Amino acid sequence: MIILGIETSCDETAVSIVEANGDLESLSFKLLGSALHSQIDTHREFGGVVPMLAKREHIKNLPLVLEQALKGAENLPIDMIAVTVGPGLEPALWTGITFAKELGEKWQIPVVPTNHMEGHVVSALLQDHTTKTKRVDFPALALLISGGHTELILLNNWLDKKKIGETQDDAVGEAFDKVARMLQLPYPGGPEISKLAEEARVKNIKLETKFPRPMIHSKDFNFSFSGLKTAVLYYLKDTPQSSDSATLKLGVAREFEDAVVEVLVSKTKIAIEKYDPKTLIIGGGVIANKTLRENFLGIKKDYPDLKILIPEKQLTTDNATMIAMAAYVNKIGNNKQLTLEANGNLDID
Ligand code: KG4
Ligand code: ZN
Repeated sequence: MIILGIETSCDETAVSIVEANGDLESLSFKLLGSALHSQIDTHREFGGVVPMLAKREHIKNLPLVLEQALKGAENLPIDMIAVTVGPGLEPALWTGITFAKELGEKWQIPVVPTNHMEGHVVSALLQDHTTKTKRVDFPALALLISGGHTELILLNNWLDKKKIGETQDDAVGEAFDKVARMLQLPYPGGPEISKLAEEARVKNIKLETKFPRPMIHSKDFNFSFSGLKTAVLYYLKDTPQSSDSATLKLGVAREFEDAVVEVLVSKTKIAIEKYDPKTLIIGGGVIANKTLRENFLGIKKDYPDLKILIPEKQLTTDNATMIAMAAYVNKIGNNKQLTLEANGNLDID
């Protein structure tokens, strides 16, 4: 079947057309068309996403993004529309929902409400724009790390999911963004910190200090990043910045990234040892981070039988391809349908 996905939960306006086939054991996805408009330039001067501006931009850009996504795919028989209903910013979510409803009526096809986090889980399956879809062996563990979420999900199969841990305060992407702001780097901060940390490694620049690794030894699978962020803040306050602020920034970026990587990898390994999953899936914007990708791929040596699935770079951050894919999984699994209403705090289980 052919599914048109729509994503407007945060600051990306995205539309994708995906051909989906197979049953839950033999899922097959092919991307037929997609377009994405990022609002980063609109929000940058505010240092973060402003919900009402996001709404205005989505409304303005949805028709254009749709038209662009349909280019070369105009005459396709689209069977259904999948739209993100949550979690996310409600004013932003509503723009996608309203647009999807109107399109569904115009084309006389169903509109399927879809969970954004389920999208991040399936995003790792698409491969090289071909139908060679990656396979998940169950049980699977999913680590979702984005600007709004940091959570570990245990999947016994595609439809039986349970959240086993989550952040108690800031999401990891949010911590990247806030630390970037402290270093006077533009929004979104993840890629900026990533670049500086890389440069620090090349130049062998290190801080004398180590930042904390919050909750690294806690007995549960929860996370906390606000203490780490505060440690960076105090470090910057206490360090005279007169001499070499460029070097200081490099050092802080590297030490912050190291702390985040160590916490995420270490807690995920503890969960792997407890639940013995056959597949580890990692999704969300933060897994675009090169050091984190390398470190997660590196754990393969500790668990040679574990399959590790990480999305292609452009599918790590928000996109509509993953929304169309997630809708298909629920459709063929006959999963209970969500309501077609924005739900900012929608849970995955
Ligand atoms: O999944 P996503 O696009 O949106 C949400 O659903 O939140 O994730 C965006 C987050 C931002 O916080 C951004 O700073 C972070 O992902 N991010 C990164 C990198 N690229 C994006 N964090 C660390 N390193 C990166 N290379
Ligand atoms: Zn996301």
